[in-house]
Amino acid sequence: AIDVRKLYAETGYFTFDPGFTSTASCESAITYIDGDEGILLHRGYAIQDLAENCDYLEVCHLLLRGELPNPQQKEDFERTITYHTMVHEQLSRFYSGFRRDAHPMAVMCGVTGALSAFYHDSTDILDPRQRMIAAHRLIAKMPTMAAMAYKYSVGQPFMYPRNDLSYAENFLYMTFGTPCEAWKVDPVLARAMDKIFILHADHEQNASTSTVRLAGSSHANPFACIASGIAALWGPAHGGANEAVLLMLEEIGSVERIPEFIKRAKDKNDPFRLMGFGHRVYKNYDPRAKIMRQTCYEVLDVMGIKDEPHLAIAMELEKIALEDPYFVEKKLYPNVDFYSGIILKAMGFPTSMFTVLFALARTVGWISQWQEMIEDPQQKIGRPRQLYTGNPGRAFVPLNKRG
Ligand code: ACO
Repeated sequence: AIDVRKLYAETGYFTFDPGFTSTASCESAITYIDGDEGILLHRGYAIQDLAENCDYLEVCHLLLRGELPNPQQKEDFERTITYHTMVHEQLSRFYSGFRRDAHPMAVMCGVTGALSAFYHDSTDILDPRQRMIAAHRLIAKMPTMAAMAYKYSVGQPFMYPRNDLSYAENFLYMTFGTPCEAWKVDPVLARAMDKIFILHADHEQNASTSTVRLAGSSHANPFACIASGIAALWGPAHGGANEAVLLMLEEIGSVERIPEFIKRAKDKNDPFRLMGFGHRVYKNYDPRAKIMRQTCYEVLDVMGIKDEPHLAIAMELEKIALEDPYFVEKKLYPNVDFYSGIILKAMGFPTSMFTVLFALARTVGWISQWQEMIEDPQQKIGRPRQLYTGNPGRAFVPLNKRG
């Protein structure tokens, strides 16, 4: 076998793999994806089983602690999370420094990073107890901070968390409840919200998770690392796709115009891509997209929304694309983001909040991966190499001699 390290030391050879299409950066026991078969497992459990039978906090327990909780552990975990749902009152003032029309993802990058300025007693990454407290705080506070970002944008008062509600119910309450009225959520909507959180909980070494690991590899504090993950998630090629899908469906406008957009997506001279289609790993139907589509029907049904125009366009777009040789040959299937926007819009979320919900749900994945990395005895600071293509060296020219 070739000793790559020795070879590089002697000859300067190393792998060149833009976008890390075939380079493993770590060992991980958290999530498994078989992209050809469309399989997604968390700690060995199929995503379909988890989405069908668990609530989000059970999945959080599974990702973070390695096992699904028994009834006592579930109760303890829920108590621990609800204990941390409030944010420091001073942090809530932080929001008023932002413009009201700021994108809520911009606000989330800022306030999540700012957590490290408030919770000093959970920033020592070498202390396992502090690491676990940081993880609990992040899972617990993310819904509060996300709901506050929404409330700030619409000029309504912040709602304090209600610990008698489930994780998803509490988030919906803090987002859509007001102090002036008794608030009730339809259990189907709360369950749909919970399922959306489960479907986004982790997805191994994607761009945002790799960013969290890379930031964490320098032993930066966990709150700063999660803020870096939020920043990476924001892009439309990643988590920002759910927002981009809805904007695309709005732009398409009618079923009749779909062929025009399919044509554009295939045109190499046109930067347009079908948002919500394609995936680096899945070369088959994203298993999460199937569950999301079913959830979409349930939500529209309970909300009494018939003939939702975006859904009609989405279904027809999916049908046409799946039969088109370009998409077939390149194995471009709908991904998790394709249907989530339609559900979230029906629930009343503005498009700008879609990626925030993704970040909220993915926080447990990020922090579980971060934790796994810190505990890995092989852990090293992430430091990719490069192929230098610049000038090999030239004589310095003083300012007065430069033409
Ligand atoms: N529409 C049209 N063509 C596409 C699409 C698309 N959505 N996605 C990929 N292709 C084409 C590319 O043009 C490329 O063609 P080529 O080989 O002729 O050059 C080929 O398929 C492979 O695409 P890459 O960009 O090389 O694949 P990569 O694995 O790097 O990218 C990605 C994956 C970023 C998800 C891509 O499919 C994409 O941009 N999709 C749209 C955005 C999206 O939905 N992102 C969400 C991903 S899931 C998530 O993050 C939660």
